[in-house]
Amino acid sequence: MSILTLAGSPAPRSRSSALLRHAAQILRSRGLGISELGLRDIPAEELIEGHYTGAAAGALRARVAAADAVLISTPVYKASFSGGLKAVLDLLDEKALAGKVVLPIATGGSPAHLLALEYGLKPVLSALGARHILAGVYATDKQVRVDEQGLADIDDDVRLRLEDSVDRLSEQVLPRGAVVNEAYDLGRLALAGGFSV
Ligand SMILES: Cc1cc2nc3c(=O)[nH]c(=O)nc-3n(C[C@H](O)[C@H](O)[C@H](O)COP(=O)(O)O)c2cc1C
Repeated sequence: MSILTLAGSPAPRSRSSALLRHAAQILRSRGLGISELGLRDIPAEELIEGHYTGAAAGALRARVAAADAVLISTPVYKASFSGGLKAVLDLLDEKALAGKVVLPIATGGSPAHLLALEYGLKPVLSALGARHILAGVYATDKQVRVDEQGLADIDDDVRLRLEDSVDRLSEQVLPRGAVVNEAYDLGRLALAGGFSV
């Protein structure tokens, strides 16, 4: 089982990437293999020129093809997802996301652009063949703080929504009856009031 994370923010200290890393951390704790990709993994020139036949684009397509699930994060830029992420998606094959579970994540300065994932990113993912797009996670800047080291302080509400989406994703990619990280699940059960520790 292989999961790819794709961070669509150009910012070195990125809130959306911090949420993505948190999701990846949870999945790792469940024994799932995670491969991470960001805008900086593809040379800027190749991105801007849409260098489809370049080595970086080829490697990108191979990593996407190998993934069972793809988590994609983006900042909201001008009421939609980032141009950098679009440049990456433009290097993919026409139906690159067919058969994959996709979880979109976004952060924005304002709650007003909460629906940017729905009207901006999801139609593009759908055009790339994705038919199983999970409910996205959107957070505002006030809800996610990132320090100098890139470590995130995430509001509980966002953390719970993210963990819930990761649960949905795990259900889709883990074979039925698979044993996930026991300590993690016991902790979640306790948090949900299932029992006290
Ligand atoms: C060029 C630019 C455009 C932006 N446009 C919007 C916007 O239209 N709506 C919004 O809510 N936030 C907007 N923002 C704020 C970012 O979406 C927000 O700070 C986000 O959390 C940044 O994510 P990142 O830290 O992962 O890069 C914009 C920021 C920049 C730099």
